[in-house]
Amino acid sequence: MAKILVTGGTGYIGSHTVVELQKVGFDVVIVDNLSNSNIDVLVGIEKISGKAPAFENIDCVDYVSMDKMFEKHKDIDAIIHFAAFKAVGESVEKPLMYYRNNLVSLINMLQLMPIHKVKNLVFSSSCTVYGQPDELPVTENAPIKIAQSPYGNTKQIGEEIIRDTIHANSNYQSIILRYFNPIGAHSSAELGELPNGVPNNLLPFVTQTAIGLRKQLQVFGNDYNTPDGSCIRDYINVVDLAKAHVIAVQRMLNNKTKSNVETFNLGTGTGLSVLEIIETFENVNGVKIPFKIVPRREGDIEKVWANPTYANTELGWTAKETVEETLRSSWAWEQNLAKRAKAE
Ligand code: NAD
Ligand code: WQD
Repeated sequence: MAKILVTGGTGYIGSHTVVELQKVGFDVVIVDNLSNSNIDVLVGIEKISGKAPAFENIDCVDYVSMDKMFEKHKDIDAIIHFAAFKAVGESVEKPLMYYRNNLVSLINMLQLMPIHKVKNLVFSSSCTVYGQPDELPVTENAPIKIAQSPYGNTKQIGEEIIRDTIHANSNYQSIILRYFNPIGAHSSAELGELPNGVPNNLLPFVTQTAIGLRKQLQVFGNDYNTPDGSCIRDYINVVDLAKAHVIAVQRMLNNKTKSNVETFNLGTGTGLSVLEIIETFENVNGVKIPFKIVPRREGDIEKVWANPTYANTELGWTAKETVEETLRSSWAWEQNLAKRAKAE
């Protein structure tokens, strides 16, 4: 069976993807420096899939160590490159840390690929490249807007680096996946999001408020031009998202790509407001989320949701999980984390 290198494989989306890859029989090598994840994630992966992936604690920015890693784990067929820093606010404070980590790691992959005869790369991009789209739902052909943050810029530049590299050398192929807002956890509650410190993203803040770790959720603005005044996003289940990576890898390995660089939106096609998420979370889980409306958060986009038709038709992938089930999984994961913390 083919061997897949998953950088950032102990992270939130990476860990769920490793499970799905192993489920269909791929051999997986994870490279992660644990800068935003925990080694215990490997236990969760093994519990679910019955198989421990190979693991290397390496910084992808370290070219020499990555080179040795490719020597050790010979015959890698494809790379899924998740490894990156992702906190938007932090990227504004520490832009060089973000440019260095996110771009040098990608450049290292692209430089090492021909040396180690790896042709295929899946890249984690983001709906952040669209900024506030002029038309909704947003398709892959929508114009790329000036990035709102150094983080967003690393995704735009990352995409360009891939396109330029492939333009110069047709021995590479890449599938660029633009995720909308990933949420939820594995249905076993063995894997999920592990935010460091105070969460920036909505869902971990909601679950931490529900469990009592945070007193109150702040809803950033109710004066947007949306039906209930709060921002709208396309919340995509993390396991659905993970499955799209398996399909992307299979598409490249089976020579089914239509061009050497393909770009896909990964979203549900439905936009939900912050207040709708809170209400649905409360209803499906039978818990209350204390919240208050506060002023808008700087840099927030008013509304964005995907047109996922291209992924639906070309990849044969659709987001299957309901938002209700997804919000149940988030809550089950938070409760499992609390149980573990108590046991320690
Ligand atoms: P995450 O932080 O949970 O996972 C990233 C993993 O990469 C972590 O385990 C971290 O330790 C590791 N890592 C970071 N820099 C590294 C380096 N230099 N070398 C080795 N390992 C390194 O994040 P995630 O939510 O799983 O995101 C995965 C990818 O998807 C990222 O590229 C992110 O930018 C992108 N993305 C995420 C979202 C989201 O909302 N979660 C949305 C769109 C795109
Ligand atoms: C969602 C909505 C907030 C927290 C970010 C990145 C983006 C992508 C996904 C990687 C917004 C509101 C949030 C809170 C709130 N990541 N909110 N109270 O901002 O859509 O996107 O993550 O590529 O690049 O920018 O996600 O989860 O932070 O916010 O009211 O405590 O929830 O205003 O409307 P966002 P988010």
